[in-house]
Amino acid sequence: MKGVILAGGLATRLRPLTLVTNKHLLPVYHQPMIYYSLQAMQKAGVSEVLLTTSGDHAGDFANLLKNGEEFGLKLLYSIQDNPKGGISDAIALAQEFAGNESILVLLGDNIFNFNLEASRKKFEQKQYGAMIFGVHKDTDSRHYGVIEMDKSGKVLSIEEKPEHPKSDIAQTGIYMYDHRVFDFIKTLKPSAKGELEVTDLNNCYRAESKLFCEIIDWWIDAGASYDELLAANNDVAKMVKAGQL
Ligand code: G1P
Repeated sequence: MKGVILAGGLATRLRPLTLVTNKHLLPVYHQPMIYYSLQAMQKAGVSEVLLTTSGDHAGDFANLLKNGEEFGLKLLYSIQDNPKGGISDAIALAQEFAGNESILVLLGDNIFNFNLEASRKKFEQKQYGAMIFGVHKDTDSRHYGVIEMDKSGKVLSIEEKPEHPKSDIAQTGIYMYDHRVFDFIKTLKPSAKGELEVTDLNNCYRAESKLFCEIIDWWIDAGASYDELLAANNDVAKMVKAGQL
């Protein structure tokens, strides 16, 4: 399995913090935000990673992360020209890099302490089509993709930011896909927001009953807002001091 980290976007919600830098380079406690995704890749046992970002800040990422050796990874870069294309559009940039292999995709502003190695092995052994990762959100699941699943982990439905959520399980920015992902992306149509949505991509696998979900305990979308960024700093500080991250 190869790794893909999405670290593009305009991050207008975090301005002025993001006027002259990319949000994934902002600090979260003692490290730049992007470090957490690279460390998650390494822990998952994925050693070849493509980092996708915008042209204006690609040089900053290269200065900081170089060839990935410090993280035990082989790191490559690709440039996303269309920051408003959506998650699936950004994943499509990894086609040549992935070749015939499956991919682990991480949104670069997601921080979590779940080790993905066992899930990766399960994905490979059971030949799942795609695997997504959810968290229980008691109040605000409607701000996310909302997942309905059975006891075996098979996804029954997934809806992007629904008015009336069918469950309290929010979709995180952690996804595993088999090599067919690029063919599925080519069939997607832009949503009302004009984006190729990751939920529409995941629904291609669900239609084949090949989409599975695992629940993780702790996850934060650090780049979502000032408050989430602040919470990420505080939570990460506590977890690092407690040896939990
Ligand atoms: C995206 C996905 C959504 C998911 C979320 C996780 O939403 O579309 O399904 O729950 O990431 O961060 P966005 O944050 O881009 O609006």
